[in-house]
Amino acid sequence: MRRPAPLQYVPEAPARAAIFMVVTVRPGAEDEIRELFADAAGLARAVAFRAPEDELSCTVGVGAQLWDRLFDGPRPAGLHPFRALTGAVHTAPGTAGDLLFHVRARRLDLCFELASQFARRLAGYGEVVDEVHGFRYFDQRDLLGFVDGTENPTGAEAAEAVFVGDEDPVFAGGSYVLVQKYLHDLDAWDALTVEEQERVIGRHKLSDVELPDADKPDNSHVAANTIVDADGTERQIVRDNMPFGEIGAAEFGTYFIGYAADPDVIERMLTNMFIGDPPGNHDRILDFSRAVTGGLFFVPTAEFLDDPSAVLDSAGPEAVPAVDAGGPSCAEGSLAIGDLKRSSAW
Ligand code: HEM
Repeated sequence: MRRPAPLQYVPEAPARAAIFMVVTVRPGAEDEIRELFADAAGLARAVAFRAPEDELSCTVGVGAQLWDRLFDGPRPAGLHPFRALTGAVHTAPGTAGDLLFHVRARRLDLCFELASQFARRLAGYGEVVDEVHGFRYFDQRDLLGFVDGTENPTGAEAAEAVFVGDEDPVFAGGSYVLVQKYLHDLDAWDALTVEEQERVIGRHKLSDVELPDADKPDNSHVAANTIVDADGTERQIVRDNMPFGEIGAAEFGTYFIGYAADPDVIERMLTNMFIGDPPGNHDRILDFSRAVTGGLFFVPTAEFLDDPSAVLDSAGPEAVPAVDAGGPSCAEGSLAIGDLKRSSAW
């Protein structure tokens, strides 16, 4: 009997260390990618088993265009290329990426080992177009100094927020993940008083307590990201953001990663942040944090990765959803990667 793999694990508690690796896949390498998927659980087990107390886990996400290259049959209903946003002041670019590896643990060495194992298997078949090593900063703070992750749902609420259900039965148990790499202007941020910073975020800095509604500006980060449906239901996502940086290069960032059962929820948050509600009223956090990447991926279940055809064949002769045009594609080469610092060819 095989042990369960720490694969396709959607975060429940904040990690201490993480590696976020975005990869483009070369045309013609589809067989190798399917083989890697089948072996991914074994690779994760081989690293995790040696240090079970350090909770290594990994999710593998697949972008829309690679999905269509890899699989015949239906595509996850909400999977499409990242939708770039252009607000009056700030933009959210979409950048190239076919695969996302989100590797997390209590120790960076475990993340490094598993990410390296994946990279070794992909040598000659793809390129790492972005790689971020995230670390825990004091009591779950981002590099702006605020505690990040407090309002994440947990337990059954988190499961409801992130896992696809009966609305898309072939892909039930999977999830969508949206990532963006942000760089902070810490000089401008540090020039604010703590009280001004608190009005940008919508929470107190030291205590992490939310500002009362009367004191919380409607362009604060917390206000922009509170999504309530017409029937009064609050829609949630699970975030697992990590700080990262390079001191000598004066690079200080937050890697945003959000999981959701329906990507529309995260996209509504992004619209509020970048376009504003009403338009023009953008999230103040963007005046100090610039998005330099953007990608949307589907995280299939571990069972799907192990044997996709067993799942897809059960779907019957459904129509293949049409491709949503207009996002960045690996076929278009290294598109719009702008400010990325690391790009290594395998
Ligand atoms: C520069 C990047 C970002 C930073 C530094 C950041 C930081 C924070 C902080 C400090 C909080 C308050 C504590 C908490 O509940 O976690 C927060 C809340 C939140 N953020 Fe972000 N965030 C970033 C980007 C984003 C993005 C891109 C999204 C969505 C697309 C997002 C969604 C949320 C949500 C849903 C909440 C909880 C709101 C609530 O219900 O109170 N964040 N973020």
